Amino acid sequence: MTFVRNAWYVASWSHDLTSEPVAETILGENVVLWRGEDGLSRAAQNLCPHRFLPLSKGSVRGNHLQCGYHGLTFDGTGACVDAPTQTAPPADCGIRSYPVHENMGMVWIWMGDPALADPADVYDLPEYHQDGWGVGYGDALDVEANYLLLCDNLCDPTHVNYVHPSTLGNPDGFNAPVTYEDMPWGVITERLTVNSGPTGFVEAVGDYAGKVDMWQRYLMYVPSVSIIDFGATATGTGSYTGGGDGRIHVFSCHFMTPVTETRTIDRWLHVRNFTPDDPAVSDGISEQFRFAFAEDKEILQAVQDEENRHDGRVKVGLDLDASAGLFRLKVNRLIRAETQAEAAE
Ligand code: FES
Ligand SMILES: [Fe+2]
Repeated sequence: MTFVRNAWYVASWSHDLTSEPVAETILGENVVLWRGEDGLSRAAQNLCPHRFLPLSKGSVRGNHLQCGYHGLTFDGTGACVDAPTQTAPPADCGIRSYPVHENMGMVWIWMGDPALADPADVYDLPEYHQDGWGVGYGDALDVEANYLLLCDNLCDPTHVNYVHPSTLGNPDGFNAPVTYEDMPWGVITERLTVNSGPTGFVEAVGDYAGKVDMWQRYLMYVPSVSIIDFGATATGTGSYTGGGDGRIHVFSCHFMTPVTETRTIDRWLHVRNFTPDDPAVSDGISEQFRFAFAEDKEILQAVQDEENRHDGRVKVGLDLDASAGLFRLKVNRLIRAETQAEAAE
């Protein structure tokens, strides 16, 4: 098992959650989500305790969810509040509910001990909310691979030159040094490519006559939020530590939700510091990312296939794996702590 349970995961885009109940599998558990007439999102196990019809086949009544078979009705805490044809629901009729919280246009769900769920721990990117920054929403990329393979990829700025040569890779960056930093919440992996030709992305959105300095800061939060902070300036005018001429700055954000051990939904969006109100710019960036992330998906699925075929075979390590290794160590520690706490109960 590679899942951390006591964590917030993205369960849905906020705009996709309406009064129609939605089924999602998260950490291998079948969950139903719905939005009540009060506008609040709710989540519960997707299983009616009566005849086991998935509750996602039912309907929303007010703020409650009604089973589509015999009408058992549940509130957002999972309590059964109505059992048509009898005076009161059976005492053992309740179902598991999950804490939810909305932020950055997404519905977040807490899959662990509800007593530990604190909405203040939901990931937040300050620039998402700030004037002068534009937001573009991407897709829910469905990848047939374990989420930690995606995390490896998102601790690794070097792969862009090989996997994304036309968009995010650049011809002068193959040997740019990679450094990383241990953070309380995860790992940052960084690479600065100076005096380089622009990447396809930078060329498309920037306005540079000559060479550029480009930074990649890959912030990987335990267990599965990735913020890629990247951008460019005209060479010699400042990197991410300074202003810089025509500085373009983008946060490419990935919110990965493990579905099973070999499948992950990666909901992505981006936040930028230029033409914030132009939807055509948002669409253009999304188009480039969509193309690039499809390249990642192909690579990661192929790796997962080979992992399945070579179960347990040890891989060769490279220096560039250091930050991904540290990230996995942190995830493993959390899983071990949760497993020990469960065993102690
Ligand atoms: S199966 Fe849900 S009420 Fe009967
Ligand atoms: Fe990539």
